[in-house]
Amino acid sequence: MIAKVRKAVFPAAGLGTRFLPATKAMPKEMLPLVDKPLIQYGVEEAIQSGVQNIIIVTGRGKSAIEDHFDVSFELEDLLERKQKADLLRQVRGVSDMIEVAYIRQKEALGLGHAVLRARNLVGPEPFAVVLSDDVIDAEVPCLHQLLDCYAYFGASVVALMEVPREQISAYGVVDAEPVDHNGTKNRLYRIRNMVEKPKAEHAPSNLAIIGRYVLVPEIFESITQIQPGAGGEIQLTDALKHLLRSRPIYGYRFEGRRFDAGDKLGFLKATVEFALRRPDLGSSFREYLKQLAL
Ligand code: UTP
Repeated sequence: MIAKVRKAVFPAAGLGTRFLPATKAMPKEMLPLVDKPLIQYGVEEAIQSGVQNIIIVTGRGKSAIEDHFDVSFELEDLLERKQKADLLRQVRGVSDMIEVAYIRQKEALGLGHAVLRARNLVGPEPFAVVLSDDVIDAEVPCLHQLLDCYAYFGASVVALMEVPREQISAYGVVDAEPVDHNGTKNRLYRIRNMVEKPKAEHAPSNLAIIGRYVLVPEIFESITQIQPGAGGEIQLTDALKHLLRSRPIYGYRFEGRRFDAGDKLGFLKATVEFALRRPDLGSSFREYLKQLAL
């Protein structure tokens, strides 16, 4: 029987150098898109995908993330006294939402290293990894799409997206063959090989790994077996490549749009689009944008 995925690991201990100086004292996962921190979008995606146990790997600014998902008695009391029922519901909703555990990554030694920190909390079961600076807008949550593939094959699945050649060297890139699934041949791939941040001329395809994974627990052993790779970091892509020697790994070209909110331009695009779609802000924001002489 294929084990159910109950836990999601949220690595949030990176240095966020692309977003300095905002990320000097605060993790980028706390940057707000309109009025919600990035990590909350990721956590809501996990919940909507049926995964309720959240493990957050923190570094600097640990308290901001912990406080966000904690109960704030003073704030709730104030909102109650001022009869701000709607805001009270929103604030309570955040802390009621999840069962959350924290583990510290003392040094930002790479994404693979961050995931390994969660080994004891995850235990011997499959789990999800969500990078919350990849914000994905999708009808069916991206993680849910991956979990459907996992439920079918019982093997690790990573999210894939087509990326223009000139940008490919910023990603983990796969060499993969398409697999028939649900009557189509252009979504699911069986991965043959992968490489982290290849030069454009060496990239095996235009299919990049995006920040959603469903992984079998054997990945932890693979992480311990690899050496630091691109950028001197322990890379999750290298560990996946190691895992490929003994286990199949699938890639799923998810349906939806991904914003790289860990990058300034990507963050601005996401902010504009999410704000335009908000019932309370959209029409006045649209009016404002229209009257800008662009
Ligand atoms: P990024 O590749 O975006 O790196 O990490 P970064 O350090 O956070 O940001 P830049 O590139 O310097 O601007 C992808 C994800 O992995 C986590 C990050 O928090 C982010 O969610 N991460 C990365 C860790 O938790 N620990 C690490 O050592 C590295």
